[in-house]
Amino acid sequence: MIVVTGATGQLGRLVIAALLKKTAATNIVAAVRNVEKAQGLAALGVHVRHADYSQPASWDAALHGADKVLLISSSEIGQRTQQHRSVIDAAKRAGIKLLAYTSVLHADTSVLGLAAEHRETEALLRASGVPFALLRNGWYTENYAAGIPTALALGAVYGCAGDGRISSATRADYAEAAAVVLTTNNQAGNVYELAGDNAYTLSEFAAEISRQAGRAIGYVNLPEAEYKKALLGAGLPEFLAELLANSDTGVSKGALFDEGQQLSTLIGRPTTTLATAVAAAL
Ligand SMILES: NC(=O)c1ccc[n+]([C@@H]2O[C@H](COP(=O)([O-])OP(=O)(O)OC[C@H]3O[C@@H](n4cnc5c(N)ncnc54)[C@H](OP(=O)(O)O)[C@@H]3O)[C@@H](O)[C@H]2O)c1
Repeated sequence: MIVVTGATGQLGRLVIAALLKKTAATNIVAAVRNVEKAQGLAALGVHVRHADYSQPASWDAALHGADKVLLISSSEIGQRTQQHRSVIDAAKRAGIKLLAYTSVLHADTSVLGLAAEHRETEALLRASGVPFALLRNGWYTENYAAGIPTALALGAVYGCAGDGRISSATRADYAEAAAVVLTTNNQAGNVYELAGDNAYTLSEFAAEISRQAGRAIGYVNLPEAEYKKALLGAGLPEFLAELLANSDTGVSKGALFDEGQQLSTLIGRPTTTLATAVAAAL
């Protein structure tokens, strides 16, 4: 039995869909904090169990009878290490054979502010004795594609990523990779640096929007503080504006670039192109 945490999230739902192509629904447990939100998953025949990262005691029942766990990193930034610890401790008590964790690309050396909690979680895993695999996911292409309506409204893509190259892939690509790892033997100890096949800069991203939308959209590179101010001005909360601006600066230093092609190797097909993702968003 395979437990997927964060199963009502955008990645979690895609992982369940990918797993359903490889194993019976009765072998899959969706661990969710909001059971109401998981009605669609239950309708697929998947077991739905309540578990909250912030309620350590909820995880023993959630992992009961499971062999493998996909720990999808929490979205509650700042609380994540402690939250992930609850799942790892329960996995140890349950004798889980493989825990796969969605970390961040090059977590061990990453300059991204958000990498700290991933490094801490990886250290917890190493110390736990639970057999684990690391799915070090790069950026979702959707992170930028979601900004296309704003770019069209403003006539430009704004950021502070300079000429940094981004090897992003879609959530569906990463989800498929997770499903492969969860249904393939001998995964313990594997560390995957997962990223898209074809890297691009934000200027190239803007050019792709221009090409497909038939309108001139440029890229405006701002100093990090200015970009953060612009995000705050657009109504983003302080922590998110800080995180996005910091991440863009990380991009400018190559933090989200990778050319190892481990993701396409794992899923047995090329990763989704930027052009396809932009077309879908448009
Ligand atoms: N690689 C990237 O570019 C990138 C970008 C953004 C985020 N991420 C990371 O990747 C993860 C998955 O991405 P995503 O797009 O699927 O994010 P998402 O749609 O926000 O999903 C996050 C999931 O975590 C669950 N969750 C949050 N707090 C929880 C708690 N206390 N207990 C139990 N579950 C909790 C949410 O539950 P609800 O459904 O009940 O809200 C949701 O199912 C994120 O959480 C984040 O750590 C990566």
